[in-house]
Amino acid sequence: MDRPGLPLDVPREHALARASEHVRSAWASFDVARADQPLLDGPLRRILSGSLPESGMPVLEALDDAARALDESLAPARPRYFAFVGSSGLEVGVLADALASCHDVNLATHAGVADLVERQAIAWLAELVGFPADGGVFTSGGMISNLTALVAAREQALPGVRTTGLAARPAALYCSSEAHYSVRRAAEVLGIGAGAVRSIAIDGERRVRADLVAAAIDRDVAAGIAPVAVVATAGTTLTGAVDPIDELAEVCAARGVWLHVDGAYGLPAACVEATAGLFAGLARADSVTVDAHKWLYLPKACGVCLVRDRRTLERAFVHDEAYMLHEDDELNAVDRTLEYSRPFRALKLWLALRVHGAAAFRAALTSNVELARLLEQLVRDEPELELLVDRPQLTVVPFRHRPAGVVDLNAHNRRLVEALQRDFRVYVSSASIDGVTCLRPCIVNYRTTAADVRALVEVALEIGRKIAT
Ligand SMILES: Cc1ncc(COP(=O)(O)O)c(C=O)c1O
Repeated sequence: MDRPGLPLDVPREHALARASEHVRSAWASFDVARADQPLLDGPLRRILSGSLPESGMPVLEALDDAARALDESLAPARPRYFAFVGSSGLEVGVLADALASCHDVNLATHAGVADLVERQAIAWLAELVGFPADGGVFTSGGMISNLTALVAAREQALPGVRTTGLAARPAALYCSSEAHYSVRRAAEVLGIGAGAVRSIAIDGERRVRADLVAAAIDRDVAAGIAPVAVVATAGTTLTGAVDPIDELAEVCAARGVWLHVDGAYGLPAACVEATAGLFAGLARADSVTVDAHKWLYLPKACGVCLVRDRRTLERAFVHDEAYMLHEDDELNAVDRTLEYSRPFRALKLWLALRVHGAAAFRAALTSNVELARLLEQLVRDEPELELLVDRPQLTVVPFRHRPAGVVDLNAHNRRLVEALQRDFRVYVSSASIDGVTCLRPCIVNYRTTAADVRALVEVALEIGRKIAT
């Protein structure tokens, strides 16, 4: 029988075998640090400058090209990738993604058992981090989780605003001066305006000052401005500082203001014994953001927004459309989400928690925290290096190189990061803290070992000394 549609040039089992061979060799290459990073090769460069192919090519060859393109790209899954907030591409997550794409269920309406998997994954994640969630949604990441939560907060603060628009009703958001810019982005998108994000000063540990948040809210209320939400950051992107959630919960409770916790990066540390205390008060929040594609090691995208009361999402997102009828007053999944079509992101978290269990996740997170403390100690022990925060709270450990005789340390450290990124033995990004340029390593990969952390310090010193002369 003729196969209609889009046939491959070989049986699809052959394509599957080749793809799994590429996955196998990628996994093997992630297990240990590699000395060099292959750069764009000639044949690939030619392919990438080609025009739209009118006719197809052998799938095995195309898969080989795709694997080479990936091998020549930067992969945060490698154990010496310390830049930004990386992700690790946990193996069962990769398998789950393949299965989820294969079935491609429709999560906008009723997807059958997939809906139950999603619900259970939400409940398990909430239990892992210690938040009493009544519901939640999977998103593309912290940016959209924060927006989702703030849409719900806006509707709660100003009922009916989704219909009327803000009109002449001024509103404001409150967060640390070091909150992720997704809070400003949300204010822009929600019509609150980035100018109405009160960027509140931080204390000596780079945590937002709850007393100043309270004062800002009271000032706004007196001026007729509606406080929509306070956003506590549980692990700032810059230094990993965790805002005083309990104090902020107190401020919010006294004023009837929504408390959102942006734990996109840091929230998994709530289940690590050494860091759990930093998250005191989490259970009092109205909503939280956590990215399983950051520090729960899963492949992107696997963001989650958890809410204390599922109805707050429903009030913000429910729609009645002729092509999306509600049966027996049952809401559709899409009635709680900003997205309509979306991939089955829950499957990889569900599978990972079943395969590894919560204890293994706690152990991997604990190991990352211990490695961050090791890095902190190595930096303290080396007179040419300087820590940029007194006591790093999570796994971001910013430091700079201060060789004798170098006057412009900012320029030196900027050049150092550029040189390290060209060298490729360790990969780290730069940051500016109070105007001081530094290296900003962040440890969120279960593959990273003590040897990798020592290599970071050794290579930074080696290259730093070389470019200082
Ligand atoms: C604290 C915080 N919030 C939000 C985000 C945005 O997350 P995403 O890139 O998954 O959208 C980040 C990204 O690093 C983050 O660190």
